Amino acid sequence: MCGIFGYVGTRRNAGEIVVEGLKRLEYRGYDSWGVACKEQNGSVSVNKDIGRIGTVDGSGFCQDCALAVAHTRWATHGGVTQLNAHPHLSCDGTIAVVHNGIVENYLEIKRELKAKGHTFLSETDTEVIPHLIEEKYKETGDFAAAVRTACLHFTGRYAVLALHTESNTLVAARTGSPLIVGVEREGLENRATEIGKSQVPSPACPAKLGERNRESRVPHQSYFIASDIPAFLPFTKTVQYLDDGEMVVTDGHSIIFSDIETGEERPKREIGITWSVEQAEKGDFDHYMLKEIMDQKESVARAVNQDETQIMTLAQAIRNAQGTFLVGCGTAGKACMAAEYFFSVVAEHHVNFCAASEFKVYHHFLKPASLLIVVSQSGETADVLEAMEVAKRKGSKVLAIVNVEGSTIAREADYTLLIRAGPERAVASTKALTGQLAALLLIAYALGDRLQEGKTLLLETSAQISDMLNPRYVERLSKLAEDMKDREDLYIIGKSWNYPMAMESAIKIQEVSYVHAEGFAGGELKHGPIALIEEGTPCIALMGKDEVQMDILSNAMELKARGAWIIGVSPERFEVFDEWIKVPDAGVAQAIVNIIPIQVLAYFLAVKRGKDPDMPRNLAKSVTVK
Ligand code: G6P
Repeated sequence: MCGIFGYVGTRRNAGEIVVEGLKRLEYRGYDSWGVACKEQNGSVSVNKDIGRIGTVDGSGFCQDCALAVAHTRWATHGGVTQLNAHPHLSCDGTIAVVHNGIVENYLEIKRELKAKGHTFLSETDTEVIPHLIEEKYKETGDFAAAVRTACLHFTGRYAVLALHTESNTLVAARTGSPLIVGVEREGLENRATEIGKSQVPSPACPAKLGERNRESRVPHQSYFIASDIPAFLPFTKTVQYLDDGEMVVTDGHSIIFSDIETGEERPKREIGITWSVEQAEKGDFDHYMLKEIMDQKESVARAVNQDETQIMTLAQAIRNAQGTFLVGCGTAGKACMAAEYFFSVVAEHHVNFCAASEFKVYHHFLKPASLLIVVSQSGETADVLEAMEVAKRKGSKVLAIVNVEGSTIAREADYTLLIRAGPERAVASTKALTGQLAALLLIAYALGDRLQEGKTLLLETSAQISDMLNPRYVERLSKLAEDMKDREDLYIIGKSWNYPMAMESAIKIQEVSYVHAEGFAGGELKHGPIALIEEGTPCIALMGKDEVQMDILSNAMELKARGAWIIGVSPERFEVFDEWIKVPDAGVAQAIVNIIPIQVLAYFLAVKRGKDPDMPRNLAKSVTVK
C-alpha cells in the first residue's frame, strides 16, 4: 500500500519524471498524492492533493529540477486530506520524506520531538520521520547517518525515502515494504544481463555521501528509487534490490548500500529485468483489467513452459516433506485452495491450505521437515511474509510461486517458481490467478509422475482460452452484465476445484462492481444460504464434465425451485440453465477456464455500474501492511 518514487541524476525534469512514474504506481494506493522537488534556489516545492493523480502534469512543478520524491497514498494513519498526503517536511524545509508502512511508535517519538520544539501539520505517523532526521542531522551533519539513526528508533514494517536539499541526496531504507533502485547510466551500455546471471558491482563510492557543507558533486548518472519497477521502466531495466534492514544513499554520482543496524556497507549486484514497457501498458484497452484478462491468451502457456528439471525438484521437495502447507491471500489464496483438490485428484497427496493471515497459529504443526508453499502475485504481501518467517523460525523450507521476479518473497524463499504472467496493474488479480493455478496443477502432475500429461493438458487449455476470449464471447458477457447490473445480490456455487473458484468469482464481482456477491460450496446451500434466494436472484453454477457434475446440477435445481435465475458456466448445456455460458471442456484444468468468463463479467458489471475496475474503492494491489 502506498507507492514511493524518487529521482536524482542528470535529467532536468525530475518533477515530470516522478509524476509520470507515480501514475504507474497508482495501483498501490490512490487516496491522495504528493510531490516534492528541489528548486534551483535550493528550496523545496511541494504539490499535493487528495484523489487520484490522473492527468496531473508534473512538468510545471519545478524548472530545471534534478532531485524529487513522490508518493501515492493508501491511508492508514490520518484521514484522506491534503495535509496528510505525503511528502512531509522537516521544520527547516530541507528534508522531504515519503513513506510506506507504519511507524508503530510514532506517538512516543512525536511527543519527544514536540518537547524539542518541532511543529507538526498532519495526523500521520510519517511526519515524525523528517523531524527526527532533522534532529539527528543537527548532531552529526551527515544526512545518511541521520536517516540511519532515525530509523533505528522506529518500530514496525516500513519503507522510507528522504530527500535532502543541502547535500542533494536521496536516502532510502526498508524494513518490510519493497524498495528497488533503477540505474540509468549516461552513455554507457546497460551492463546487466538476465536475472541471476549478472554480477556487476555497484560503482565504488570515493567519499561518504550526504556530508554537510561538502561541495555537491555533479551527478553523472540517474538513480530511481521506487516501490515497484514500472515506475522507472521507461528509463532503465537495470535494478538493484534493497533487502530488509538495508538502506541506500545516492547523490546521482555514487551509490552506497548499507546495513541499517550496523552501518556496514553491503555489496549489491545489478540485475537486468525482462519486463517490457509495452507489457506494463494498457495499449488499446480501456482498462488494465480487461487487458490483463486478454493477456491470458498467452500468459497461461508461459506459466506452463517451465524448466522441467526445476518442476521435478519442486515435486520432490513436496514428496519428501513431512507436511505441506499452502498459503496465500485473497485471489492467490483461492489458487492455493484449488491446489488442495489438484494434489488430491492428480497426485493423491495431502496438502493443507491456510489463509496466510491465519497461518501463524499453525506453527505448532511445523517441523524442520515441513514445507510451506507460498503463492503471491506481488511477492510483497505482508501476511505471506509473516507466514514465511513463522516457517523459517521452525526450520521449515519455503517454496514460493510468484509473479514479480526479484520480489522479497521470491528472494527469501528456498525454492522459487516464477509464473511469468507479466506486470499485473489492475487491483483485481486475473492473469496472475490463472498462472498460479497452472503452475500448481503442473507441480501436482509432476508429483504424480505424469509431468508430460499435465503439460499437454495445460497447453491445450491455454489454446482453448485463446479461442474462448474472442470478441463475440466477450460481447455476450457484456450483454449479460447489462441484464444483471441492477441486481444487488449474486451467488455463485461450485464443488471440488470449482468451490474455490466460486469464492474467487465472488471476490472479483465484489471488488470491482460493489455488487454483493458470495461463493458457496454447492452442497452447503441447504444448510443456510438457500434462505437468501428469492424470485429472480441471479445464481451462477460453475461446472465441469467431472465426477461432481451431477451434484452441482442438483444444487442448481434446488436453487431454481426457489425462483433463482440460473446462469450455468459449463462445457455442456442443461435444461436448468436460464443462461448458458459455454466454456471448453478442460478436464482437471476446468477451474482455470471457468473463472475467465466471470472475470469478464465482473469487469463489465463494474463498467456498466459506472465504477473504475482498475482502482476499486478502499483496495490496493499490493498489501504490504498487516
Ligand atoms: C490484494 C489484491 C488481491 C491479491 C491479494 C494478495 O488484496 O487486491 O488481488 O490477490 O492482495 O496479493 P499477492 O500479491 O500476494 O498475490
